[in-house]
Parts: sequence; C-alpha cells; structure tokens
Amino acid sequence: MKDAVATAAGSDLYVTLEPCCHYGRTGPCTEAIIAAGVSRVVVGCLDPNPQVAGGGILALQRAGLAVEAGVLQFACERLIAGHATFMRRGLPYVVWSYAMTMDGKVATAAGESRWITGERARSEVHRLRRTVDAVAVGIGTVLADDPRLTPRPAGTGPAPYRLVFDSKARLPLDSALLAEAVGQVVVFVSEDAPAARCRALRDAGALVIEAGKARVSAAAALRTAADQLDVREVLLESGPELSASFLAEGLVDEIVCFVSGKLFGGRDAPGPCGGAGIRLPADAPAAKITRMRRFDEDVALYGLLASEDGKES
Ligand SMILES: NC(=O)c1ccc[n+]([C@@H]2O[C@H](COP(=O)([O-])OP(=O)(O)OC[C@H]3O[C@@H](n4cnc5c(N)ncnc54)[C@H](OP(=O)(O)O)[C@@H]3O)[C@@H](O)[C@H]2O)c1
Repeated sequence: MKDAVATAAGSDLYVTLEPCCHYGRTGPCTEAIIAAGVSRVVVGCLDPNPQVAGGGILALQRAGLAVEAGVLQFACERLIAGHATFMRRGLPYVVWSYAMTMDGKVATAAGESRWITGERARSEVHRLRRTVDAVAVGIGTVLADDPRLTPRPAGTGPAPYRLVFDSKARLPLDSALLAEAVGQVVVFVSEDAPAARCRALRDAGALVIEAGKARVSAAAALRTAADQLDVREVLLESGPELSASFLAEGLVDEIVCFVSGKLFGGRDAPGPCGGAGIRLPADAPAAKITRMRRFDEDVALYGLLASEDGKES
C-alpha cells in the first residue's frame, strides 16, 4: 500500500482478506486505504479475527468507499486458512499428506515405504512443503526413513520448520534432519525426556521444546509452534501412529492422499492411520473430497475435514 500511494487516488483495490481496522504489528490498513484515495475495494473474504470481523468493511463504507465483499469466498478462505484457524482455535491449519498403495498400505510389513508413488507425485509433496510454515513427523518415521523433510527445489520464502514429535528425545545425532542446515529442526519432547539427550540435540542445532508429560501432546505442540514460532500451516507427513493422534484430537483440517497402483499386501503392513479406530462405519468422520488429480500413474485425492467449530477451514 505504501508503495502504491502516489498512484492510488480513484483506483479500485482488490484484496484477498478484509483490510484490518485495528492497531497490531502495523497500523490499520483501512486508514492507509482511505488516505490513499482509493474509491472501490473488492474483498475476497472477511477476516475472522474478532478485532476485525466486518469492522474493516464498515470503516471503508463509512468513509464513502464502495465495497464489494465475499467474492471468491471459498478460494480466498483457503488462502487465509492458516490465519483463520489460528484466529478461531489458536492452532495452525494442518494438511495431512501420505502415500498409500491401492490396497491401503503406507509401508511394507518390513517397514519400507520408499517409494510408493512415482516422481511427479513426490514433486507435488515438495510443492506442498513450499506452501507451509512447518513440516511435521513422528520419531517413528525418522527412525524408519531418515528423511530430510526439506522442499526440493527450495521455495523463495523461508524454509519450513521441520518438527519432530519425539517424546523421549531419540532423534539420532547423525540423522539427515540434523545434517541438513535448511529449515530449523524443532524437537517436541515430553517432560520425561532424558536431559542429556535434549542437551545433545540442542548442541546439534535443534530447538528442543517440552510439550506434554509422558508423551508429547500433539495439540500442545501445535499451539506452541503457533504461539512461539508463528507457524500457521503445517504439512503432516507422519506415519500411522502420530497421524492417529492428530485425527483423534481433531487437529487435521485437510487431507492429501496419494494412491499408487502398487499392492503391498501383508496383514502387518500398516495403513495410513493407526490407533484403535472406530467400530461402526456409520460413526466414521468423513472428509469432503474436493478434488482429484492425476500424477502420471498415481492419483491424489484432496479432502477437507470439518473443524471443531463446524466450519470447513
Ligand atoms: N507412505 C507414507 O506416506 C508414510 C509417511 C510416513 C511414514 N511412513 C511409514 O510409517 C512407518 C512409521 O510409522 P510410525 O507410526 O512409527 O511413524 P510416526 O507416526 O511418524 O511416529 C510415531 C512416533 O511418534 C511419537 N509420538 C510423539 N508424540 C506422539 C503422539 N502424541 N501421538 C502418537 N505418536 C507420538 C511416538 O514415539 P515416542 O512416544 O517415543 O515419541 C511414536 O512412536 C515407517 O515404516 C514409514 O516408512 C509412511
């Protein structure tokens, strides 16, 4: 806005999010827009921040500007999903992504999962990593796969944090995660994690944060990531155990499920979600499948889960 002021008089302004009308890290956008002489503002979606929530639009209208609100509401809400989820629930928006075979397995019975999908599907995962503030896994995935969790190629913005849910601070000091400098590694540990291990991880460059007593609390860790690290969107790339906790606690907002034509078989080969599961199909939570895309021989299904406040975020 500052850069546009000289040429903004009488112009139409198109914005994704309702301009703010309160003092936060910066002054109210509405005042800058009015001062610049903009005559019409087209707003993609309202700001769920209770300090704004329609107040920005009202301020513009009171100053005599023409305002069109709520155009492309659905598409714009997805663009601000991280901000909206944080405003509504104090949590980041979580996209759970996994790859499974056509018989519903995320690893072989021997624990091998590389690779289930082909190169194009895997490059879509790297694109997703470039869109989030943090990528998250459980220690089980680190021990099995030794992933780097970096977007490759890197994006233009800051590299996402790499979050590891690791109650006992078992992350190996020689892991690829710690060897790779791009993207701060954050290890969420429990209060019971051995102090010496936590110290060693800190010395190796990780940020070690306590979140939970005997086991890391997924919700507490996410809240801390949002509050302390400004994390608004997380890509969850965990195995079945941590994914089950996220789902059971209602922390997943969106699912990206890659399906390949491979068949692993094996009664001990895991599916995407562990835990006890539910008993009756009628009781199952259901994602609303919004999109399907093909990546060469693989497909991806994109689905939304209704969040606790009843809104699809
Ligand atoms: N195909 C795919 O998309 C895909 C993706 C990822 C992994 N995998 C496969 O999945 C397998 C690993 O599965 P996994 O279930 O062990 O991996 P995981 O879910 O990533 O990690 C599980 C570990 O996370 C820790 N954890 C910390 N807080 C937790 C919480 N609140 N709830 C649950 N767990 C928590 C637990 O260990 P502590 O209690 O010690 O902290 C737990 O054992 C490997 O074979 C891997 O290849 C496949």
